[in-house]
Amino acid sequence: MSLRSIKSSRSLRLTLRFVIPLIAVMTLLAYLLVPLVDKMTLKWSVRDLDARSRLITSAFQEPLGELLLQGNKTKINNWFARVIQDERLYALGYCDGTGRLLYHTASFPAALGCSLPGTSSYDSPALLQLPRGLVHVAVNPVSVDGVSRGSLMLVHDMSYAQRRSEDTRKYIVVFFIVLCLIVSFITVLIAHLSWRGWIAGVRMFLRGDEINRSFPESSHSELQPLVGDLKALLRAVDAEKRLDDDMTFTWDAAALRTLLHKQLMGDQIIVVSNREPYIHVKTAEGIKVNRPASGLVTAVEPVMRACSGTWIAHGSGTADYDVVDKKDHVRVPPDHPEYTLRRIWLSKEEESGYYYGFANEGIWPLCHIAHVRPVFRTSDWLQYMAINKRFAAAVISEAQRDDPVILVQDYHFALLPDMIRRAMPRATVITFWHIPWPNPESFGICPWREELLKGMLGSTILGFHTPFHCTNFLETVDRYLEARVNYASSTIARHGSMTLVEAYPISIQFPPAGHARLPAIAQCRDYVRKAMNIEKTCLIGLGVDRLDYTKGIIERLRALECMLENHPDMVGRFCFIQIAAPSRSEIEDYQAFDARVRALAAQINLKYSAPGYLPVHLKVEHHEPEEVNLYYRAADVCMVTSLHDGMNLVAKEYVAARDDEQGVLVLSRFTGAAHELYEALIVNPYHIEQTADALYQALTMPVFEQQARMCSMRSMVSNFNVYRWAARMLLDAARVRQREKLADRIGVQL
Ligand code: G6P
Repeated sequence: MSLRSIKSSRSLRLTLRFVIPLIAVMTLLAYLLVPLVDKMTLKWSVRDLDARSRLITSAFQEPLGELLLQGNKTKINNWFARVIQDERLYALGYCDGTGRLLYHTASFPAALGCSLPGTSSYDSPALLQLPRGLVHVAVNPVSVDGVSRGSLMLVHDMSYAQRRSEDTRKYIVVFFIVLCLIVSFITVLIAHLSWRGWIAGVRMFLRGDEINRSFPESSHSELQPLVGDLKALLRAVDAEKRLDDDMTFTWDAAALRTLLHKQLMGDQIIVVSNREPYIHVKTAEGIKVNRPASGLVTAVEPVMRACSGTWIAHGSGTADYDVVDKKDHVRVPPDHPEYTLRRIWLSKEEESGYYYGFANEGIWPLCHIAHVRPVFRTSDWLQYMAINKRFAAAVISEAQRDDPVILVQDYHFALLPDMIRRAMPRATVITFWHIPWPNPESFGICPWREELLKGMLGSTILGFHTPFHCTNFLETVDRYLEARVNYASSTIARHGSMTLVEAYPISIQFPPAGHARLPAIAQCRDYVRKAMNIEKTCLIGLGVDRLDYTKGIIERLRALECMLENHPDMVGRFCFIQIAAPSRSEIEDYQAFDARVRALAAQINLKYSAPGYLPVHLKVEHHEPEEVNLYYRAADVCMVTSLHDGMNLVAKEYVAARDDEQGVLVLSRFTGAAHELYEALIVNPYHIEQTADALYQALTMPVFEQQARMCSMRSMVSNFNVYRWAARMLLDAARVRQREKLADRIGVQL
């Protein structure tokens, strides 16, 4: 059915719905009113005729008195005949005082005599139905020289009153028909106009427009005060529904797969990230597969295994090229393939400009408050644009339909969402920003801030870890772009497309992959002690990070030093293992940081080491996830002291690894994880003494307290696992897709 015919049938239905009841009401009114008016018209006519009769009688008193005195019957009858030439006076008669009809016109009704119809009284007028029609009879006294002689009977023709009544009835019916038509017309017109107004208002509402911006004084003003409340209400309902779902539903790989099939009809999922989940490297023993130290990969990989689909990423391994097919595809995980990895090749120069330069010397320090200055170079920006284009082309070539769901990951691809949107307007682009988003002033430093924001607004959904980062983003767009930012609904409308900005706190797979195969806690402890040459009596502290200046490794080592200083009894009884995966080592700031960490560790070791005792074990090398898990299970305390971190999944990994419900987490308040893991010992890493105290508290915490805290954190991570993170985004995406499909069908532009 065409839109036009839908509209006309809607108008017809609307018209009938208004007009039929209106006609019914009008008919009822007319039905009640006509007899009433009839009655009143008759009453008026009778009153008229009464007055007329009295007037005629009084005018005739004198001539009639004289004629009566003369007693000439013929003369009187002739005079009566002349008088009734008046068209309304039909007959005249005279009765004497005893009630005898002495004189009358020929037309005088014989049956009438000297009495009034239906009454014995001579004083009141009455109506009489004659074969010729209705007549009015009045009996008025006649006196001669002040002496009452008899009465004059005046019979008036009432047919004119009946005619008048019929005319009035006709006028009333016509009046009601006309009134009915006018009211119907006005009602339908008003209904039609306000319907159109509401439709326009609702369209804009759906688009997320603020109505009063486009129509300042318009007819939509009645919607304006409602829009904010309505949206806030919808969000509250949504949040409540979510909370309900969060409390009752367990998300796992199977549930996520079901969601994909039910809500997204098995639509194709494409993930884009810079870092690949599996890196093939050449070694002396042949090709080996490494898994990188990346929170992004830790989180997204289990989701991808559940969803299948295609993951597009930079092929950075030395043997990556050797294992792909003609389409640069390789099936992963290598042992039991579940999805396709599409590799993108970058030259040294491209990697240096796009990855090391713009992404990691520019955007990374820009978004993290870690007191390292961002560096922006035009040459890096040009590479960043070019590589975003290359990835966009890869997405387009991998898409099997025009409406895939594309999950764009992180700050390496701020321009990608808009590029995809232009090429595939029907695609659903979910961008997740894994790092913090700064306030507008800080972001304003970037010379290409508008371009980055416009690029990101190609996303259908833009996710951050926390509501705070969402607000920062909304405010940044509000400050630097011409766009409609709606804080109530957390949406941004620009150039006819809309982006939902939402918080989706990321998480990990729970229980972790291969968990069942992990050795028992005691075995893990033995393994680690042996590997690191640590005494059995020594408590173990652990840090697991990329060697990155945002991770607060320096502050952590200083706190450790301070704790040993404050509690000399801990010297020889506590040692700290820092696993530090080398990272972005071509960047000067990272090289300097690496040197500072090594120097500080050496300095502490110099101060406190003894034969067979080393307080700090710094392991700057790559560790596979299984091995890191052994360390988690062996550690009495895990320290996460980031200066600024989107989420920090190490904190969650430590909790997930501790199925013995022991061990203590010391956690920086500047991580996203601190908003979820309240039972950790929360610290400000800039405050060295406070962190040192927390470390000591952790090392001396009674087992029952460790258990209570760990148990609560494990339940949190198990419920809010990475499948829930992905499910929330995909459910939102499914909702948007349904809305877009509906809008397509009814011809509304969202
Ligand atoms: C952070 C970023 C990720 C990145 C990871 C490792 O977690 O958000 O996008 O993959 O660091 O960094 P790298 O530069 O080695 O990929």
